Amino acid sequence: MSSDPLLQPYKLKHLTLRNRIIVTSHEPAYPEDGMPKERYLAYTVERAKGGVAMTMTAGSAAVSKDSPPVFNNLLAYKDEIVPWIRQMTDAVHEEVAAIMIQLTHLGRRTRWDKGDWLPVLAPSHHREASHRAFPKKIEDWDIERIIKDFADAAERMKAGGMDGVELEAYGHLIDQFVSPLTNELDGPYGGSLDNRMRFCMDVFKAIRSRVGDDFILGVRYTADERLPGGTGMSEGIEISKRLKQSGLIDYLNVIRGHIDTDAGLTDVIPIQGMANAPHLDFAGEIRAATNFPTFHAAKIPDVATARHAIASGKVDMIGMTRAHMTDPHIVRKIIEKREDEIRPCVGANYCLDRIYQGGAAYCIHNAATGRELTMPHIVAKADSRKKVVIVGAGPAGLEAARVAGERGHEVVVFEAASDPGGQIRLTALSPRRKEMMSIIDWRMAQCEKHGVTIRFNAWAEAETIEAENPDVVIVATGGVAHTDVLSKGNEFVVSSWDIISGDAKPGTNVLIFDDAGDHAALQAAEFLAGAGAKVEIMTPDRSFSPEVMAMNLVPYMRSLQKLDVTFTVTYRLESVEKNGNQLIANVGSDYGGISKQRVVDQVVINHGTIPLDDIYFELKPKSTNHGEISQDELIAGQPQSVVRNAQGQFQLFRIGDAVSARNTHAAIYDALRLAKDI
Ligand SMILES: Cc1cc2nc3c(=O)[nH]c(=O)nc-3n(C[C@H](O)[C@H](O)[C@H](O)COP(=O)(O)O)c2cc1C
Ligand code: SF4
Repeated sequence: MSSDPLLQPYKLKHLTLRNRIIVTSHEPAYPEDGMPKERYLAYTVERAKGGVAMTMTAGSAAVSKDSPPVFNNLLAYKDEIVPWIRQMTDAVHEEVAAIMIQLTHLGRRTRWDKGDWLPVLAPSHHREASHRAFPKKIEDWDIERIIKDFADAAERMKAGGMDGVELEAYGHLIDQFVSPLTNELDGPYGGSLDNRMRFCMDVFKAIRSRVGDDFILGVRYTADERLPGGTGMSEGIEISKRLKQSGLIDYLNVIRGHIDTDAGLTDVIPIQGMANAPHLDFAGEIRAATNFPTFHAAKIPDVATARHAIASGKVDMIGMTRAHMTDPHIVRKIIEKREDEIRPCVGANYCLDRIYQGGAAYCIHNAATGRELTMPHIVAKADSRKKVVIVGAGPAGLEAARVAGERGHEVVVFEAASDPGGQIRLTALSPRRKEMMSIIDWRMAQCEKHGVTIRFNAWAEAETIEAENPDVVIVATGGVAHTDVLSKGNEFVVSSWDIISGDAKPGTNVLIFDDAGDHAALQAAEFLAGAGAKVEIMTPDRSFSPEVMAMNLVPYMRSLQKLDVTFTVTYRLESVEKNGNQLIANVGSDYGGISKQRVVDQVVINHGTIPLDDIYFELKPKSTNHGEISQDELIAGQPQSVVRNAQGQFQLFRIGDAVSARNTHAAIYDALRLAKDI
């Protein structure tokens, strides 16, 4: 048996967990009609197959109708969920993993205009900044009803074959009772700590009496809100002890912080550029104070940190949740001594930010996650070996190369630059975003493993490519910054990429016109303001940086608000004129009737990229398909069969930003879904 601390079994009450790694509860927003149907099932089972000890499904399935599914939560208050849960638990158990589900009432952390349009409620009228609903103050009959709802939902989950349920008690109704900041009730549920914990204890009692002893019950709770006037650390330790002493639960799952604001949430679930494992020591203190089974997750992205968490005895089970969204087969790779092949989570938080925008969770660089029904995590070998030539070693080109290599094809990549990475290489120049380079490094290592040849400093001409005698050519040349967007004065501006790459020297008084709303504008602003410039970021949108999304915005705001940077929304830069050493920026508005001027010494445009597609159009007449991709075949996962020119020498495809400016995930998805069928 392995001596790896991570691979030691763990006995949790009657349950033997096969190792120490869990996926903690998270709602990927895959439910259909509030039920975990085929897509949800496939996603969950993939992680069980990958070897995880226990998967904690659902992000807080809703126990009541007045806990509307604000991020497409599962509806645990419906009886019809039981067979769906049963299908999932049977499939996970088949893979020898345990499975639990998190239950919650969201309290004020939701919106009244979702689900059944019922008023949101909480133990006070205080609104939660993130979701904006003004709650009704909870009444005695609400409390009785919701306690029963929890017990009913737990009973459904047991009937569905779950090994247990976990209650969510950070930012949701249960801890809205516990925290003095959100509980303004009089006794018996308000006032003293005993009273504030009463709701939680009543819920546990009701559940336990319904599900009996042979069912795991746990709680994920904040043991230190880190808010003035909130539950502090010493009270958190007291709460932890009382939870244990209640005899009602089997483990503690420790959270530190608060999630009522984007900034608070980002400290609880840190993103790239923030420290790894920031709350692990704290979780260790709770374990030491309680001597009770303790679980924890918060940016433990790599196996070494996870191993340390277990070996040091800080926690009993370690969560690697986003890490499993990036690579569902972590444990299998540890067992097979292939740790170096684990696809790394780069903390981009595309997954989580998307669910807060009403989308489904996707991983920035694993396009198969959440698409298990159609996209493979392990690519199958092709029936026959082809020669595949790829132009461009950015994320799209390298993903196509990796997948084609894994299919067993002979793959050659031409890259004009001396290094791989394309736009990601530029992105990673911001110190806070340097983890992004792992997207490239992992693909380079995989390409090497699969025998892909990469030629750097190689500007591919049509003849160079033809000389390779390829069966398939994939153009993944990306794009160049697009600044030609003004009615006058385009020659006086620079691009956000010019600033980030250092090709343009920073000005001192700078207007950034951000018409793309993505990271590049904010990265450029950080470079400029960090170099001492006064910066105004102007956008015609009604909010700034819409593509950056909530949690990714937090580190930018933390840095930019301390620097000389202002944000202007709903104005459009129309033209630029030169006046001596200065530039006059003429500003209008899509709403009409506005004409303003700014006098600056540098104008930076952020407007995405335009495709670098010369080589594609040169090759097009020589190809069999004239570059056409059958969308139906692409979507159905079939090989491309378009023939427009029977005399052509090869199939030609174009992917990523070489088609149109999108994002890293889109580029990688383009590549995976095309190359998996070549
Ligand atoms: C898409 C997504 C949804 C999540 N939803 C929940 C949730 O509903 N309840 C919960 O307790 N945690 C939720 N989490 C937080 C995770 O359980 C975990 O604590 C967090 O991702 C930090 O751990 P990690 O760094 O290992 O990913 C969610 C995370 C993600 C990525
Ligand atoms: S999107 Fe980023 S944070 Fe989320 S799982 Fe993928 S790599 Fe990790």
